[in-house]
Amino acid sequence: MHITRHAEALAVLADPRYVPPPVRQDAPEGTLAWLRAHVSRFSSGAEHAERRRRVVERLAALDPVRLRAAAKAATLERPGEWRAVPTRVLGAALGVADTTPVAAAAAGYLSGEESPQADAAVAALLDQTDLPAVTLLLQGHAATEALIAGALPRLAEHDDVEAVLRETLRHDPPLKVTRRLDLHSGEEVTLDLVAANRDPDVFPDPGRFDPARGETPHLTFGAGVRPCPAPAYALALAAGVLEGLREGERP
Ligand code: HEM
Repeated sequence: MHITRHAEALAVLADPRYVPPPVRQDAPEGTLAWLRAHVSRFSSGAEHAERRRRVVERLAALDPVRLRAAAKAATLERPGEWRAVPTRVLGAALGVADTTPVAAAAAGYLSGEESPQADAAVAALLDQTDLPAVTLLLQGHAATEALIAGALPRLAEHDDVEAVLRETLRHDPPLKVTRRLDLHSGEEVTLDLVAANRDPDVFPDPGRFDPARGETPHLTFGAGVRPCPAPAYALALAAGVLEGLREGERP
């Protein structure tokens, strides 16, 4: 089933009978597949709640204001390398000195595509830190970069960095779909976040990019049982990079 309406997507996300499609559980320890079998993102029920509690606890020790300042400073230092900044700054805050393996590990994290490179990258990260911190780095990596890349061209026409980020999240969500398995029927459900964020019943003139909308009930960070626990951190990292890029351009 392919869900495009906002109300239906919300109902699925709030209903515990819909769980993430299962991932393989028999992989050797320390590999990408092993990691996927041990993170909150792909688990459900009590196991999900406990794993989620551990990542949320880890996040709570971080300060979005500091992340934003650090992301801005790092971007000003080397504007041409802004793509590495969010993950490097998040890694430093989590005590991970070398975040270069994150990109290779993150590439297969959501898709499940296994490779020796991804396995080596996961091992290199687990050598430096624990599973909740690796989860945070892999979850945040591609989406935060995509949010910045989506917002950047809009800054030529709109001044307010936060308003542009908010509307980019709705209009151009970095994650386009998320999937669930219906435990009652066995059917796989695809939630189309792009379509739900443009549902005309919820968003007037939905195709128009309009930073003046203010807060909107977009579904880009998920909702219900397992929403993204890190919107404030993602926004802080993205805003810091965009501020750095903007300030770096000023004569
Ligand atoms: C623009 C950037 C981001 C977007 C759009 C985003 C979006 C999402 C979404 C939609 C989910 C839920 C998936 C689902 O229900 O199927 C999720 C989960 C998650 N996100 Fe984010 N995220 C972003 C950045 C981050 C960052 C920077 C972090 C870490 C600092 C993070 C950590 C997590 C974690 C740990 C989960 C799993 C939660 C759970 O299993 O209960 N995200 N994210």
